[in-house]
Amino acid sequence: MGILEHKGRARIFYKYLSQVYDRINPFIWNEAMRDEAIGWLELDGDEKILDVGCGTGFATEGLLAQVDTVYGLDQSAHQLEKAYAKFGRGGPVKFHRGDAERLPFRDDSFDVVWSSGSIEYWPNPVDALEEIRRITKPGGRVLIVGPDYPNNTLFQKMADAIMLFYDEAEADRMFREAGFTEFEHHIQQARPGSPRAITTVATIPE
Ligand SMILES: C[S@@+](CC[C@H](N)C(=O)[O-])C[C@H]1O[C@@H](n2cnc3c(N)ncnc32)[C@H](O)[C@@H]1O
Repeated sequence: MGILEHKGRARIFYKYLSQVYDRINPFIWNEAMRDEAIGWLELDGDEKILDVGCGTGFATEGLLAQVDTVYGLDQSAHQLEKAYAKFGRGGPVKFHRGDAERLPFRDDSFDVVWSSGSIEYWPNPVDALEEIRRITKPGGRVLIVGPDYPNNTLFQKMADAIMLFYDEAEADRMFREAGFTEFEHHIQQARPGSPRAITTVATIPE
């Protein structure tokens, strides 16, 4: 398990990274990738959406171009402070400070649950995916973006030491173990040579 697959360490990491997150993020996860992923959800504008690990609100902002209100949850007070500065506290984002593995919502609460760039910090990703499936309505969709596993052995060793990187076979295993049956993976990349994202879009059976 990587050093940052730990809730306390991830919180400390984001205490510092939150200061520069919005300037660094576009090198590996940019608007074109985010908007392409949002397009896979084929939103009609009426969906109730949760963004798990919303951070400073980069994906939340893209989702808000499609729907009037988005729920945002993150465990980092520092990341959330940056998001509050963008959207306000009583505005279009309903914020929750909490843990992806213990989501404070009832069963079948959301039409869509989105999470980009957060799964790699979750110590028990299958537990969190189960939680996400629990709170998504039948017929609803789940979209998870994580870091694709590098091909090069040296990069694999470095990646494994830091956080969760996973390939399609591992994504299949995690999603199946969490009870998902219908899903597909897409590989995304900001530019040739930059780290790839693996984006899984799942549908909850009716
Ligand atoms: C790379 S940022 C992604 C932010 C945003 N989703 C985006 O697309 O730019 C990862 C976020 O996941 C949050 N996070 C990490 N572990 C978490 C957990 N167990 N529960 C909730 N949020 C978590 C971090 O605090 C951080 O804000």
